[in-house]
Amino acid sequence: MDTERATMGWQPDSWQQKTVGQSPIYKNQDHVADVIGRLSSLPPIVTSWEIESLRERIASAQQGKAFVLQGGDCAEAFDECTSELIVQKLKILLQMSVVIVSGLKKPVIRVGRMAGQYAKPRSANVETVDGVTLPCYRGDLVNRVPFTAEDREPNPDLMLRGYERAALTYNFVRSLIDGGFADLHHPENWDLDFVSHSPLADEYRQLVKTVADGLDFFESMTGEKIYRARRVDFYSAHEGLHLPYEQAQTRYLEHRKKWFNLTTHFPWIGLRTSELSGAHIEYFRGIANPIGVKIGKETTPEQLTDLMEVLNPDNEAGRLTFIHRFGAGQVSQNLPRLIDTVQKVGARVLWVCDPMHGNTEKSESGLKTRRFDKILSELQQAFQTHQECGSYLGGVHLELTGGHVTECTGGARGLTDADLKRAYRTQVDPRLNYEQAMEVAMRIAGYRS
Ligand code: PEP
Ligand code: CO
Repeated sequence: MDTERATMGWQPDSWQQKTVGQSPIYKNQDHVADVIGRLSSLPPIVTSWEIESLRERIASAQQGKAFVLQGGDCAEAFDECTSELIVQKLKILLQMSVVIVSGLKKPVIRVGRMAGQYAKPRSANVETVDGVTLPCYRGDLVNRVPFTAEDREPNPDLMLRGYERAALTYNFVRSLIDGGFADLHHPENWDLDFVSHSPLADEYRQLVKTVADGLDFFESMTGEKIYRARRVDFYSAHEGLHLPYEQAQTRYLEHRKKWFNLTTHFPWIGLRTSELSGAHIEYFRGIANPIGVKIGKETTPEQLTDLMEVLNPDNEAGRLTFIHRFGAGQVSQNLPRLIDTVQKVGARVLWVCDPMHGNTEKSESGLKTRRFDKILSELQQAFQTHQECGSYLGGVHLELTGGHVTECTGGARGLTDADLKRAYRTQVDPRLNYEQAMEVAMRIAGYRS
């Protein structure tokens, strides 16, 4: 990258001169500055080598040679930083990836919405309950869920607690992967306890066996061990929403002559903070990480062109991913003009479909939910539209968990509105449960239609 041109007038804190969307109001700015100072002196969670390797892998996905599986919680919670829950999330993503690899016959790039997904955009700044109005909950990085004045007060120290948990989470993931947990020769490690009770269990086990047999066959034919297959890569991602946190770990690396956000490999810009003149675009334009931008039915071709110019002025491979989230009723109609815009300027972008955020609705019981058939429908229409337009849908972005939650309706067990309250655990958006997530993977892989 011609770093100087791309980052002209940029500094890790130059975003502070712009309008900051979705920002909490801290009472004590000195406290915020102190926390940023402390955070910036801590060691990074990820390295530029890993970031660069993800960028190369995204570049190959842009050429149609790989597929990105990005998934995890809508919002991670500090209380859920436990070994059991981390293992569950890793397992479901590994299982899904094996299904997708075997169906698409392409490498899958695994990216967790993990190790830092702690800040949330909200539709209102305040919440009123029984005549009492308090700031809304903005994620564990900012404040706490319970409806008391103390819990809802934005507390800068939570950024330190979040950074520590992000580091614990990614450290554990890294050790599991390096220790052979993700070895494709031993996918039995990834079985979740309840897989055997699932209607999809047989199909999954059959696929896993095919992949393992294929590996053994290849290795015995060539006499070589497939190193890559032993050690899968697993990258982290979060919405780069809370800019003081992102800024604190943004470093200039002399050996690369670039600035990197070292809290995560792949930060993305949410739909609500993608205003061209806003603080988030200002911050993101200066970092060299591969980045995502959420786009939706409101996004115009002009806005898309501006985003590409500002965020990837040199049209670098692997830099820019557009994550589209339209809703099942909107995708076929709105996606073609955006694909056309990208094709006309010959921009290098990766297209990823988020079939979750355009399909959120309120159930009769008042809980936020998503219907599984709408999620599948958006995904299927997205694949088809890209194909019809001569483009490539190179990934999927999902909110999911490895557990047995009941947050989205439908799927193999036909969950209904009445089932939702049974295991509704999310604080923010409804996630696919284990079986629903596996079913999505099987559809992507073409095993079910
Ligand atoms: C999210 O990914 O949780 C989110 C808030 O999405 P979007 O920016 O697409 O609304
Ligand atoms: Co969400």
